[in-house]
Parts: sequence; C-alpha cells; structure tokens
Amino acid sequence: MNNMTRIMLVVAGFAAVVLAAVIMQAFVLKPAHTMKLAVLPEGEYDPAVWGRHYPLEYQSYLKNREMAPSPTGYGGSVKVQKSVMEPALLVNFKGMPFSKDYTEDRGHPYAIEDLKSSKRVGPASVGACMTCKTANLIDIYKEKGWDYAMLPLADLFSRMKHPVSCANCHDPRTMKLRVVNPAFVEAMERRGVDVKKASREEMRSYVCGQCHAEYYFEPKTKKVVFPWDKGFLPEQMYAYYEQKPAGFEQDWIHPDSQAKMLKAQHPDFETFSGGVHGRSGVACADCHMPFMRSNGQKYSSHWVTSPLKHVEASCTTCHTQGEQWLLERVRTEQNNVWQLQKAAGQAVARAHEAVAKAANTADEARLARAREQLRKAQWFWDIVAAENGMGFHNPDQVMNTLGRAIDMAHQAAAEAKE
Ligand code: HEC
Ligand code: HEC
Ligand code: HEC
Ligand code: HEC
Repeated sequence: MNNMTRIMLVVAGFAAVVLAAVIMQAFVLKPAHTMKLAVLPEGEYDPAVWGRHYPLEYQSYLKNREMAPSPTGYGGSVKVQKSVMEPALLVNFKGMPFSKDYTEDRGHPYAIEDLKSSKRVGPASVGACMTCKTANLIDIYKEKGWDYAMLPLADLFSRMKHPVSCANCHDPRTMKLRVVNPAFVEAMERRGVDVKKASREEMRSYVCGQCHAEYYFEPKTKKVVFPWDKGFLPEQMYAYYEQKPAGFEQDWIHPDSQAKMLKAQHPDFETFSGGVHGRSGVACADCHMPFMRSNGQKYSSHWVTSPLKHVEASCTTCHTQGEQWLLERVRTEQNNVWQLQKAAGQAVARAHEAVAKAANTADEARLARAREQLRKAQWFWDIVAAENGMGFHNPDQVMNTLGRAIDMAHQAAAEAKE
C-alpha cells in the first residue's frame, strides 16, 4: 500500500464514522424534543385524545393499568390490604377510617375508581379528597377556588371524569411540565420557591411532588395544606403540627389510649428530597419515567410504576453496577427497613395498650406526657410506613426515624406502666 492509498483509506474510514454518527443522530437517537407539537385546548382532559397526537407516551400510559407485584416483594401494583403484611396497623389506626381499608397503591388510571370504592369514603367525605385523583380538578378549582374543598365529595363525583392524566402534568398548548395542585404551589411559596420559575430538572420532580406528599385538611375550610414551613424532615413537620396551625390539633383521638393522633400521608417527595438521589439532582422522572426507544424514537416512559420492573432503563443510565447487583442492593435496604418498620409498629401498638391500661389509675400529668410521647412515636413510625418506597428513597434517614419511633414508643409505655 502506498502513502496515497493509506491516506484515502483513513479519510474514507473517517467519513464512514461521521456518516454513521449522523444517521444515528437522525434516526436511532431521535431526541424527544423533536416531537411534533399538537396544540390541544385547555380543558381537554381525556388522555385518549392527547394520545392521538402522542401515541408512544399514550401507549406506555396505558400500561399503568397492568397489575403486577414488584420484584422485591414490597410495593407493587396489586391492590392488597396493608394490614395483612403489618397487622399492627389495625391497632394503631383504631377509631379512624384507615383501620377499615388501607390498600397498596396502584397505577394512575385507577385513582378515581379506587377513591370511589374505598371504605374510607363516606357521607362525611369532602371535596378536598379529589385534589390528587383527577385532571378535572383544574376546572373545579378555576370555577370555585378552594371552596370546592368543603363540598360533599359525592356531589363532585359526576364531574370527576378522568383520573390522574396528561393535563395534571402538561400544559396542553406547549407540552411544558406544569403543576396544577394549588396546595403545592402555596406550600413552596411559603418556602420562598416560585414554582413558575422552576427549571426543567426541578419540574421533573415537582410534577410528582404535587400529589406524592404529606398533607392535612385545614379544619374550617378543608383546604389541603402541605406542612412544610419548617422543613421536610419528620421532626420538622411534627414541630409544625405542634403549633396547631389554623386550629388543627389532630386527625383523630385514639379510642384506647385517648392520645391525639396524626395520620401521615405518602411523604414520597419529602423523603426523596433529603436522600442521596434527591441531593444529587436526580429527579423522580429519571427513575420512574426513564427514556425508552421504539423504532428509533426516544420517548419518556409514561408507565409510572416500580422502576425495578425495568432496572436497565431506570438505573444503568447512571450506574455501572449490573442489574442484579442493583436489585439486590434495593432488596437489602428494603429488608432492613421492613424489619424495623414492623418492630416500630408493634412497639407503638403495645404503647397504646399500656397507656389505655393506665388511664384510670395514673396521675394526669404523667399520663399526658405518655400520650404526647405516643403521638410522636406513631408519627415517626407512620411517616415511614406511609411512604411508598419502603425506605429506598432515603435509607439512612428512614432507619434513623424508625429507631427513634421504637425508642419513643418504649418511653411512652414505660411512663404509663410506672
Ligand atoms: C433513584 C431512583 C428513584 C427516584 C429518584 C425516585 N424513586 Fe420512587 N422508587 C424507586 C424504587 C427503587 C422504588 C421501590 C420499588 C419497589 O419496591 O418495587 C420506588 C418506589 C416508589 C413508589 C411505590 C411504588 C410501588 O410499587 O408501590 C412510589 C409511589 C414512588 N417511588 C414515588 C416517587 C416519587 C414521587 C419520587 C420523587 C419525589 C421518587 N419516587 C423518586 C426509585 C426511585
Ligand atoms: C405524572 C406526570 C405526567 C403525566 C400524567 C403525563 N406526563 Fe408526559 N411527561 C412527564 C414528564 C416528567 C416528561 C419528561 C419531560 C421533560 O423531561 O422535559 C413527560 C414528557 C412527555 C412528552 C415529551 C416527549 C417525551 O416522551 O419525553 C410528551 C409528548 C408527553 N409527555 C405526553 C404525555 C401524554 C400524551 C400524557 C397522557 C396520556 C402524559 N404525557 C401524561 C410527565 C407526565
Ligand atoms: C394528580 C396527582 C398525582 C400526580 C401528579 C402523580 N401521582 Fe403518582 N399516584 C397518585 C395516586 C392517587 C396514586 C394511587 C392510585 C391508586 O392506587 O388508585 C398514585 C400511584 C403512583 C405509583 C404506584 C403505581 C404502582 O404501579 O404501584 C407510583 C410509582 C407513582 N404514583 C409515582 C408517581 C410519579 C413518579 C409521579 C411524577 C412523574 C407521579 N406519581 C405523579 C397521584 C399522583
Ligand atoms: C440520574 C442518575 C441516577 C439514576 C437514574 C439512579 N441513580 Fe442511584 N445514585 C446516583 C448518584 C449520583 C448516587 C450517589 C453516589 C454515587 O455517586 O454513586 C447514587 C447512589 C445510589 C445508591 C447508594 C446510596 C443509597 O442511597 O443506597 C444506590 C443503592 C443506588 N444509587 C441505586 C439506584 C437504583 C436502584 C436506581 C434505579 C431505580 C438508581 N440508583 C438510579 C445516581 C443515579
């Protein structure tokens, strides 16, 4: 081979590589932002209509109806009573609706159906309960402001036509991510954050945080409020409730121990925020809505479920460890959390019994201290038990919270026994 041939071969080789890269860019890795934008009217809440324009996202959204357990044995999308796994729930939630019906969560399309069929819902249920279940919230809030929260829930059923769907997270005209739950916007504002100015990366968690968060209903107005003024930690939210915001003292009084109890609600956003992933700028959507490919088209999966059903897409974009290693790691973390969660739940249940027994004999000041300790112990247990990741979203914080719950439950029981 003479020099000329060598040079030509090198040039031809180089050209081939460039050409391949161009082809890859154009066809194989077609980035999501080149999608054709369809301008849908504000007020279109039917995911099937959106789906005509965005078929890949819609096809994956429809997978949310699939019900399957998680490979770890925790979580999953099968509607089972949580008390089967953790019987202490029945003692700890005695006297309130969560002792009657408390099931594992499943896919977004079931949100309205599961609300309507819940035994927790009755004639006393208020409009506020629809806040995180339906895209039709947007209209109702526009029309009535927070007044909808006070209306009987049953009166609003006919207006709840579509469950959690496209309009909850997207502006129909631009497809930009948006937050529609006013409770999230207001709570962030009190923290000094203007959600309207959030970056795209932040929005990839905020769209989830608008529903997957701890909340309470303000007593007089039934308005939904997120207790975040002092921070996202269990003790910070507890301290917030200690101030009796707008007269809110408790969710119910436990019939045995007579302690004034709080019910924690799915604090996924709060727990995740302080964890390794939250602190490293990883968003909910990175794991729960990873990029997938179909015929060379790249799109965000809208099958929002356990990421362990597709570890490769969800985790190995950042992690070099193999799928099996990652799965085992999650399972180990969750096993550790589950053991302590059960122990904490049982310790709290025994404390309710001890305090109940002491009720007629003990001196009032000590009894009050025991009840206070018990309320706090149950909050620390419940804020973990009500979270959906079985600890994965923030393993060390969760272990610390459960350890403290066990300690406080023992203290409450000891105080009562003395
Ligand atoms: C680093 C990846 C990662 C991030 C980021 C993440 N999650 Fe998760 N999430 C997981 C894993 C892993 C599980 C456990 C799944 C299991 O047990 O099968 C989980 C479980 C869940 C579940 C319960 C799923 C089930 O099967 O019942 C919900 C709900 C959830 N996450 C919501 C969120 C929300 C909301 C955010 C952001 C505020 C978030 N996650 C951020 C990885 C992640
Ligand atoms: C729970 C929130 C949520 C819901 C509900 C939702 N999306 Fe998305 N969607 C997202 C997120 C997050 C992204 C990623 C956006 C980004 O990174 O900028 C996304 C991206 C998209 C994109 C941009 C292209 C892509 O795939 O990344 C389209 C198109 C889209 N969604 C369509 C839909 C349609 C159609 C529906 C209803 C069937 C829907 N979405 C429901 C959160 C949601
Ligand atoms: C409008 C409120 C709302 C928004 C927005 C929302 N969720 Fe949910 N999510 C729910 C409700 C309600 C359920 C439970 C539905 C049921 O069990 O019927 C749920 C269930 C889930 C589950 C359990 C699914 C399963 O297979 O077990 C996961 C995981 C989840 N959401 C993650 C997310 C993530 C991640 C985001 C953001 C990209 C998000 N959600 C945005 C309300 C919401
Ligand atoms: C967008 C990037 C990203 C994605 C996606 C991601 N991680 Fe991570 N993960 C990180 C970073 C950053 C850390 C911090 C430590 C480090 O640099 O390795 C971390 C740490 C961890 C750790 C050790 C710390 C802990 O909290 O236990 C585990 C385990 C882990 N990730 C599992 C997962 C699993 C499982 C998934 C998929 C469900 C996942 N990660 C998805 C970036 C990511």
